[in-house]
Amino acid sequence: MSASESPAEILPPQVTRIEESGKLPKLRVETPWSTAEVYFQGAHVTAFQEKGEAPLLFLSKQSQFIPGKAIRGGIPLIFPWFGNREGHPAHGFARTAEWNLVDAVSHADGRVTLRFSLPEHLSPLRVQYAVTVAEDLKLEFSVQNPTQEAQQVEACLHSYFNIGDIARTSVTGLQKVPFIDQLDGNRIKSESFPELRISEEIDRIYIAVPAVLEIHDETRKRKIRLETENSRSAVVWNPWIAKSQRLGDFGDEEYREMLCVETGNVAGNTWNLVPGGHLGMKARLSSFQ
Ligand code: BG6
Repeated sequence: MSASESPAEILPPQVTRIEESGKLPKLRVETPWSTAEVYFQGAHVTAFQEKGEAPLLFLSKQSQFIPGKAIRGGIPLIFPWFGNREGHPAHGFARTAEWNLVDAVSHADGRVTLRFSLPEHLSPLRVQYAVTVAEDLKLEFSVQNPTQEAQQVEACLHSYFNIGDIARTSVTGLQKVPFIDQLDGNRIKSESFPELRISEEIDRIYIAVPAVLEIHDETRKRKIRLETENSRSAVVWNPWIAKSQRLGDFGDEEYREMLCVETGNVAGNTWNLVPGGHLGMKARLSSFQ
C-alpha cells in the first residue's frame, strides 16, 4: 500500500500531512518543545528543531526531493546494507523506498510518535521504525526475520548534524576506539586524542563505540549528544572540498556547516538475524549548552 492510501491518516492535531503538487509528501510534527519533518520516502527525518534553537539537523540547500533519490541531509535510514553493492543502490533501498505510516500517536505528556513500516513486498524481513518528537528526538529501528533462513543485514541512522563551523567543532567519545579508514585502503587505526577535530575529508567507520558521543559546536555554543542502544558502529563523514564539488546535490561550501555522525551496526558489526530472530537499536539525539 502506498503512503497516499495509508489508513493511518487519522492524524492527531500535532501532525500535519503536507502534500504539494509535484513534491514528495511529508509529515510535520509540532510539540510543546520542538518541530520535526519526516518524509514518507525513506521514513526520512529531514528536520528537528527545539523552539528557540538552531536546527539540529543539516539539510542541503541543493537536495533534490525527487522520487527514488536519497535526500541529502537529515537522517537517511540505511538498510539492509551500508555502502556500495555492485548492481544495487548505495546504502540500501530503504532510504528511497516509500514507507507505510502505521500510526501517529500523541502522548498525554506532549510527545508525538510516528511509526513506520517498510512495505512487505520490498523485503522478506519485518522492518519497523519509530520516530518520537519531544524535547529530544528518539529513533527506534527494529527488524524481525520471519523466514526459515538466517539473514545478514546492516542498519545505520545516517545523521547529518547542523554545526556552525567545522573548523570550530570536535567530537568526543571516540578516543582509542578502532576505526576503518575508508580513505586509506580500509586500514584499521585508532585515535589517540580525546577530541576528534576535522580539517580534511574524513570517512571512518568506528568499531565498538560507546553509548554516548558528543559533538561540541563552539560557534553555536552548544553540544549535540547522541545516546544509543545496541549500536556498535559509528561512521564519521565530512566530504570536505573536492568531494563536496563532486556531489551533485550538495553545495560547494556546505561541508563547513555539517558533520555526519552515523550510528548503527555495519561492517564488522553486521547483524545476523537467525530464523524467527529479532534485533533492534535506538538513538536519542539532543542538544544542550
Ligand atoms: C557515508 C559513507 O556513510 O555516506 C561515505 O561512509 C559516503 O563513503 C557518504 O560518501 C554519503 O553517501 P551517499 O550515498 O549518500 O552519497
